Amino acid sequence: MKRRSLAGIGAGAGAALFTLSACGEDSGGDGNGGGGDGYVIGFSQVGAESAWRTANSKSVQDAAAADDRITELKFDDGQQDQEKQIAAVRSFINQAVDAIVIAPVVETGWTDVLTEASDAGIPVVLADRGVEAADEDLYVTRLGSDFEAEGRSAGEWAATTFATTPDFKILELTGTTGSAPANDRKAGFFAVLDEKGVAYTLVDSQTGNFTAEEGKATMETFITTHGLDGIQLLYAHNDEMGLGAIQAIEESGKAPGTDIQIIIVDGSKAGFQAGVDGKVNYIVECNPAFGEQLMDVVVDVIEGGSPEKFTPVEEGVFGPDQFEAELPNRQF
Ligand code: AHR
Repeated sequence: MKRRSLAGIGAGAGAALFTLSACGEDSGGDGNGGGGDGYVIGFSQVGAESAWRTANSKSVQDAAAADDRITELKFDDGQQDQEKQIAAVRSFINQAVDAIVIAPVVETGWTDVLTEASDAGIPVVLADRGVEAADEDLYVTRLGSDFEAEGRSAGEWAATTFATTPDFKILELTGTTGSAPANDRKAGFFAVLDEKGVAYTLVDSQTGNFTAEEGKATMETFITTHGLDGIQLLYAHNDEMGLGAIQAIEESGKAPGTDIQIIIVDGSKAGFQAGVDGKVNYIVECNPAFGEQLMDVVVDVIEGGSPEKFTPVEEGVFGPDQFEAELPNRQF
């Protein structure tokens, strides 16, 4: 790996004050495959819970492999377990990598390990998910989705679609409890409904942990507890949970997309296919393909750049008229 000198790690609000200079000196190998002339990066990924996540891991790994500035990307699958992620980050610190990328499974509980990275002079870039605001000075920048904007997009569609349905009834399948996308997709969605003065009832809201299996199991519980009669909308925070819920709805004898309308977030091939099949009514895109952009951000940070605290990736929204035409374009 390249050696660098650390001039300072900032504590100023919103400021990225890591000042690093890459001297271009070859360390002659670190015993971990990092013997090249480029940078060594540690990446603690959330897990492999969804098609989105698999596509995101591939995007980051492919981009690192194709980038001459990167000697090695040390990849660790956290299996949706914060303790595993923290252990991986500590391992990266011990290996003196040039930068650490974390996709944090949940927002809280990062202060200690981020402080350890800061004390070791290793800059941290967040990819995909964020951490709580109190830890904002302990990482340089975040590249990923604006989850609240995604939730607001879903809320705009629901507010328009059910504008004339008195007191429309909602079931919500939330993502991993405590994760940034679960918190922000919920907040954005209901903020729009409240701002617009739409009359609704949230009949139930439970986690499906971003997986198809748990999404299906939670939907089965919803059906047992509440039935589906009189419920207009299922808001699923990702495709997998929505697809699992569709199975549960069909097994109960109801027609997903017709008897109950469904919003999903991500935009996978399987999600769009469900839309083409009439089982999903609205798709909010979450874009996992930011690997190349991430490499640029990480190298910039290592070399002393001061990127914005948050860079959102580009995302769209899709209704039934667009599902068929968009399906061939989906990459995951
Ligand atoms: O953090 C992004 C979310 O995590 C995606 O919406 C979901 O599919 C993934 O598990």
